[in-house]
Amino acid sequence: MTTKIQQFQTLHELSTAAAELFCQVAEQSVKEHDHFTVALSGGSTPRLLYEHLSWEPYLNRIPWPKTHIFWGDERYVASDHPDSNFAMASQALIQHIPLPAEHIHRIQTELASPEQTAEAYETTLRNCLSVFDRRSQQNNVPVFDLILLGMGPDGHTASLFPESPVLEEQARWVSATPVPKLNPPVQRITLTYPVLNAGKTVLFLVSGGEKHALVQQILEHPQQAWQKYPAARVNPSRNLVWLLA
Ligand code: 6PG
Repeated sequence: MTTKIQQFQTLHELSTAAAELFCQVAEQSVKEHDHFTVALSGGSTPRLLYEHLSWEPYLNRIPWPKTHIFWGDERYVASDHPDSNFAMASQALIQHIPLPAEHIHRIQTELASPEQTAEAYETTLRNCLSVFDRRSQQNNVPVFDLILLGMGPDGHTASLFPESPVLEEQARWVSATPVPKLNPPVQRITLTYPVLNAGKTVLFLVSGGEKHALVQQILEHPQQAWQKYPAARVNPSRNLVWLLA
């Protein structure tokens, strides 16, 4: 695994660097296996990146007809709710790009429970296996070309929160999670570590100076951090990139 960390003065600079990396991975993935699969993250940090991707020069660099968009996690709210990760990505990006509707793989929070939503999303991943990179599937886990992640002030990532039972999940690809202590206090659905760690490139976008010391602990004392911070358990076999602002 190669780990890269870059610090920027502003979120705008971080988002520009992230957009460039997004394009490079997209172009390389289509060259390698004729598709580009990406799992988007939620929260507020990635919004500016998503807006960048809908502008030139990124808009026309990305092979949208061969791109498949998934989510790393979702809040169990309606898809048009202000707290919905899908709603944020839809407003900032999806409504502005020529992405085929069938390539938008939303976590269906309209189902009767978070558990049913998680099961349905795992089925979605299984049904989409043909667009993932076949050559590097380990134990049939779907291998994303790019996984975007954020990190909260408690070291959570996706919807993997400290002390959550889902931290130990090694069989399921998608799981419902208990209501976290952080806002919004709603149940979530999240990809689990087997899928996150199979990602070919995992890109953390972290904004907020109060998180920098936590990132430093994760990178300099990974064993200790592993116990405390869920983000420390993300160890993809290939490329791990941290962009901080
Ligand atoms: C979510 C995200 C979550 C987010 C972090 C950081 O659904 O909230 O997936 O993991 O990435 O909480 O959020 P900010 O980028 O807004 O600080």
